[in-house]
Amino acid sequence: MENTKTILDNTKTILDLKDAFKGETTASAKYAAYSKKAQEDGYKNIAVLFEAASHAEKIHANNHKKALEELGDKPDDFNPEFEVKSTKDNLQDAINGETYEVTTMYPGFIETAKAAKVRNAIVTFNYAFKTEMKHKILFEAAMDSLNAGKESELPSVYRVCPLCGNTYETEVPGKCGICGEPAGDFIVFK
Ligand SMILES: [Fe+2]
Ligand SMILES: [Fe+2]
Repeated sequence: MENTKTILDNTKTILDLKDAFKGETTASAKYAAYSKKAQEDGYKNIAVLFEAASHAEKIHANNHKKALEELGDKPDDFNPEFEVKSTKDNLQDAINGETYEVTTMYPGFIETAKAAKVRNAIVTFNYAFKTEMKHKILFEAAMDSLNAGKESELPSVYRVCPLCGNTYETEVPGKCGICGEPAGDFIVFK
């Protein structure tokens, strides 16, 4: 009997994982540079936020890489390209990047991965998507404080989940709200 079962195609999801790996690797590198710039500008709290976010993006990149390897592929070689400007411009660039990821990029990638039933891609895209929603809010709060001349009132400690990159500006409520990792495992930035 002819097999009429639909064969699911993960080709687009593999390309999306490669694209997301580039995006997260670039974000990690540029946030590290933006952190250094904020430190030089005397914005210690914004420097810590960028440092924590840089680490979270590195976790996302590594998770995307693992998902690619499990699918028998690997990321393409590339060099991250970005420009360091004023801390205010750097914050705006971060807000723009996170906004694109949460409104356009990850929702599309997740939809495609779900249609193709690529379980590990759905998980890694969701970890990043949920984290970037928080990053967007944290960067917007930092921009508001900077504009109001109240940078010193921003949080000075951030905690990053080693598994999914989730980022807290408060104590972690027992376990990670995204992946369930215990609070004690979180990486502290201050
Ligand atoms: Fe982010
Ligand atoms: Fe987590």
